[in-house]
Amino acid sequence: MDQIDWAEIRRAATVATTHSYAPYSKLRVGAAGVTDDGRIVSGCNVENASYGLTLCAECSLVSALHMSGGGRLRAVVCVDGDGALLAPCGRCRQLLYEAGGASLVVLRESGPVAMSTLLPEAFGPDDLP
Ligand code: THU
Repeated sequence: MDQIDWAEIRRAATVATTHSYAPYSKLRVGAAGVTDDGRIVSGCNVENASYGLTLCAECSLVSALHMSGGGRLRAVVCVDGDGALLAPCGRCRQLLYEAGGASLVVLRESGPVAMSTLLPEAFGPDDLP
């Protein structure tokens, strides 16, 4: 398994924040990840005047994953407009779990943390009949 280039992923996430549409919260969010075939994919948050319809950056990241050839996410970084790490929200943890499973690692201040820790005892594809 190749080493994960966290600096490259974090850079892509920070660039993604420049595409953010966040006129309401003013929080620009970028998410980026590396796929199992080595692609870097990224996304940004897209807000809506009907606040609850806001799309998180991770949602945009997962769309980019599929639009660029699919596969699985191996490692993800989420940042604000200054490049500071952000934790994925609960809904986004479920989205990331679907796209990378329990072994997907997300960069936190303490280092890479697996989805099995960020979303313990997760519901997932294996639970469906
Ligand atoms: N946001 C994300 O993009 N990802 C998360 O995991 C947490 C929150 C966005 C949604 C909204 O545009 C802004 O951050 C404030 O909640």
